[in-house]
Parts: sequence; structure tokens; C-alpha cells
Amino acid sequence: MQTQGDMEPGTNPAVDLPEPRLAGTVSIEQTLAERRSVRSFAPAALDLDQVSQLAWAAQGVTRRADGFRTAPSAGATYPLEIDLLVSGMAEIPDGVYRYDPGRHRLEHRITGDLRRALHDAALRQSPILAAPVVMVISGQVSRTARRYGARATRYVFMEAGHAAQNVYLQGVALDIGTVVIGAFHDREVTAVLELREGEQPLYILPLGRTTDR
Ligand SMILES: Cc1cc2nc3c(=O)[nH]c(=O)nc-3n(C[C@H](O)[C@H](O)[C@H](O)COP(=O)(O)O)c2cc1C
Repeated sequence: MQTQGDMEPGTNPAVDLPEPRLAGTVSIEQTLAERRSVRSFAPAALDLDQVSQLAWAAQGVTRRADGFRTAPSAGATYPLEIDLLVSGMAEIPDGVYRYDPGRHRLEHRITGDLRRALHDAALRQSPILAAPVVMVISGQVSRTARRYGARATRYVFMEAGHAAQNVYLQGVALDIGTVVIGAFHDREVTAVLELREGEQPLYILPLGRTTDR
């Protein structure tokens, strides 16, 4: 894993994530029963194991041979991108990181704590400021449209739902809460995250240790 000293802006350093754990102490039934939207969090930072597990739950590769993932994808076109705004972590500096499912690592994209800007772009919803980590799920519809034409938009939206539900359930197992936020200004969120041409922000998921369970 790279250290903070390697994180010079513009060099696009990558952070290898710990291997995801495939066994836990909470049953799938319990995660379903306990899943709830959580909007207040303990201020404590998350650690790299937790970030690894949450990113993997959203889009991790579960079959090496063909790259299939934790969430289904129309025609295995994989249009989703996962960005993580992290702050206060011991292992990596504050910034925006993109999850690379194939290598199970984070690519550093932007330096600094952008939660305030994202919060302002999302109707000032307080969970975004309160959470030590914020995940943003974006979709690149053209990837799916090559195969499915006009139906691609709905397919990409559906996929974001699958990925987000995985994060909710993984969160329950880790005592990490989240809420899916769909109310935001697309253009402002796109600008804050410097999303690439064609990438559309779909969901914002603030993530933090729960205070009410
Ligand atoms: C598409 C969608 C958009 C949502 N957007 C927001 C949002 O912008 N802000 C928010 O606080 N909750 C948002 N929610 C969460 C809902 O308010 C929440 O799921 C609902 O109140 C039911 O509560 P539960 O998730 O605890 O079962 C959204 C949920 C969905 C499915």
C-alpha cells in the first residue's frame, strides 16, 4: 500500500485495498431486518478495511474469470463508477478516490475534503457533512446503450439501486450506517467531483459508524 508521502497531487497514486472478508457474524436475514436509513453518524473516521468492504459490496469483482461483480449488470456492461470522499483516515489523505473493481484498489483523483461542496450541491443535506466517508455512485449510460439502446438509461438506474442496497446491507453487518440521497443538483455534483464526460451522478451515500443502534 502507498503511504501519505506517495500521494503527490497529479501523480494518480493508487491505494491497494485489503482483501474483502467473505465471512461475517451477521446473517443476511438480520441485515435485511435491520436495514434502515441512517442520517447521523459518529464523527470517528472509518478505516481502510471498512472502506474496502463497502467498495467491494458496491461493485467488487466476485468471479475473476469474467469480472462479474457483487451487483448484477445488464449484459455485464458495468456502467457504474464508485467515488469515495474520505476524510480523517489514518492510512490515506483526505480526497476523492475512485474504486477500481478489477484491481480492488482506489485511484486518487482530487486532494482535500470536498464534503462541504458536495453538501451544498445536495440541498445542504446534513448527513453528507456528518459522515467521515461519502460514496457517490455515477453511471456512464453509453456503456450500456451500445448494447441496449434506449433501454440503457433505465437499466443503469436499476443497477445503481442494486449497488446501493448492497452497501446498506454490508453496512449493517459492519455497524456502519448510510442513507441513499437522490436529491441533488446534477450539474453541481458533476462539477464538484470532476466527473468525466457522460458520467451522471445517481446516488450519494454518506457512511459512518452508527450512533443509534
Ligand atoms: C430513490 C431514493 C431517493 C432518496 N433520496 C433521499 C434524499 O435525498 N435524502 C434522504 O434523506 N433520504 C433519501 N432517500 C431515503 C428515503 O427517505 C428512505 O429510504 C425512506 O424514508 C424509508 O426509510 P428506510 O430506508 O429507513 O426504510 C431516498 C430513497 C430513495 C429510494
